[in-house]
Amino acid sequence: MLVSSKELLLDAQKHGYAVGAFNTNNLEITHAIIRAAEAKKAPILIQISAGAIRYAGLDFLPMIARQAAMKASVPVAIHLDHGPSFELVMKALRVGFTSVMRDASKLPFEQNVAEVVKVVEAAHAVGVPVEAEIGKIGGAEEHVVVSEREALMTDPDEAAKFVEASGCDFLAVAIGNAHGFYKGEPKLDFDRLAAIREKVPVPLVLHGASGIPDEQIRKAVERGICKINIDTEIRYAFATTVRAFMAENPKQIDPRKILGPAIEAMQAVVERKIELFGSAGRA
Ligand code: G3H
Ligand code: ZN
Repeated sequence: MLVSSKELLLDAQKHGYAVGAFNTNNLEITHAIIRAAEAKKAPILIQISAGAIRYAGLDFLPMIARQAAMKASVPVAIHLDHGPSFELVMKALRVGFTSVMRDASKLPFEQNVAEVVKVVEAAHAVGVPVEAEIGKIGGAEEHVVVSEREALMTDPDEAAKFVEASGCDFLAVAIGNAHGFYKGEPKLDFDRLAAIREKVPVPLVLHGASGIPDEQIRKAVERGICKINIDTEIRYAFATTVRAFMAENPKQIDPRKILGPAIEAMQAVVERKIELFGSAGRA
């Protein structure tokens, strides 16, 4: 069933688990995510970024995701990932997203607040919750390009002020996490996360979770992370499976046969993450 992310994240916060938020670009990834959630009886978010919308079209990809959500036996929210502008958030609301992020984290504090306030006013008017970000998450993703060295972690006091001033429903934090593949072993700053948790009442979000060791993910969930974003590990499963299949079956031309094993591989990734996040059986 199609639901708002607010109810999912508040339940996660109350019961100490995290809901997985998985990025889709097409029908196959969407099927893999939904099948995993159904197999694990887990609530879930399907996320669509500005880049995914550019690739697949605002008239198509959100419709595929919404249709899949409405038919699913588990609660599914459709979320705009890293909303780069007020305009795109408005378009997302119009086509039925049930959750949006306005990412103005590259802007100075006051401008970030102002951008989020605008979106909160409009989105809340139609009952849609808003995720925002303070601090700068490392790595490169879509329009977000921040070198890992320059990346600025979230300051707990600033985070509290930001949530209060912007009225956002969920807060994405920068605690040593980065988008894409990690160069070395990531080391999340758990003291910082605990300090943010102390001061910020809304559910916290961890971006760039692909490649973070399981033990650190468990600790992050224990310290208040309620939504965990995964994209790269799904892409990796897709690409490696298609590559291997084509190497073994170089004459195959049927897209269904080529993509079938990739769907299964992506489903397996999502199922494993659902178990790790503690959201299995929470639907
Ligand atoms: O917003 C999406 C994510 O933060 C995904 O990060 O590609 O490192 O898994 P990832
Ligand atoms: Zn992200």
